[in-house]
Amino acid sequence: MKQRLQKLIAAAGLASRRKAEGWIADGRVTVNGQVAELGVQADPERDRILVDGRPLPPAEEPVCVLLYKPVGYVTSRRDPQGRPVVTELLGKVRERLFPIGRLDLNTEGLLLLTNDGDLAWHLSHPSHEVSKTYLVRLQGSLPPQARQQLENGVQLEDGLTAPAKVARVRQAGSHSWLELSIHEGRNRQVRRMCEAVGCPVSRLKRIRYAFLDLGGLRPGQHRRLSRDEVARLKEL
Ligand code: URA
Repeated sequence: MKQRLQKLIAAAGLASRRKAEGWIADGRVTVNGQVAELGVQADPERDRILVDGRPLPPAEEPVCVLLYKPVGYVTSRRDPQGRPVVTELLGKVRERLFPIGRLDLNTEGLLLLTNDGDLAWHLSHPSHEVSKTYLVRLQGSLPPQARQQLENGVQLEDGLTAPAKVARVRQAGSHSWLELSIHEGRNRQVRRMCEAVGCPVSRLKRIRYAFLDLGGLRPGQHRRLSRDEVARLKEL
């Protein structure tokens, strides 16, 4: 059956649909020897589809894994500096998974990985406003006006953030803990928001992603999401 090329590339687990569109626009995809244009449809059983000169792999069974990322792992499939990467932790998972979004090297917690380009695209799209909750340890306390700023939105160099939700604030000796929920996914967003209100972060752990939490997982462990959980993520 003929389908749009970006859909076939996503189903093969190579990239999200949006990324695949970029590849097509850049002339990296050919169908039966012709450079494909955006909008072209093809049948993977009859047409010869090449990406960067290599045949499109067969569509994989879609899989989504929830990993407890430990501190010190890079959120990537490969690291040019040779540091440990999250996909090394997936043991027996045979499919080629890529992370949905990113956690910093020094951030731990809930990370989803998938080979389902559509799911990745759906969850990363800013308009879908998926809520992510972080357990944050601050150096020092969280003054009321700093909390108010976080709850109103913080001016960062890439613009004003959406309001965050702040909960369960408690002081413990020289530092404090809180739960912060955001639905944007900017680079180092939580650390930058807290720093901008004068409260540097000393530890950061993502504890929830939409309706999912870490359950009983320990750092480095993972589990496959059920079909129901994946279907619920697609409905968000
Ligand atoms: N915000 C951060 O600052 N770091 C992360 O890893 C995730 C969210």
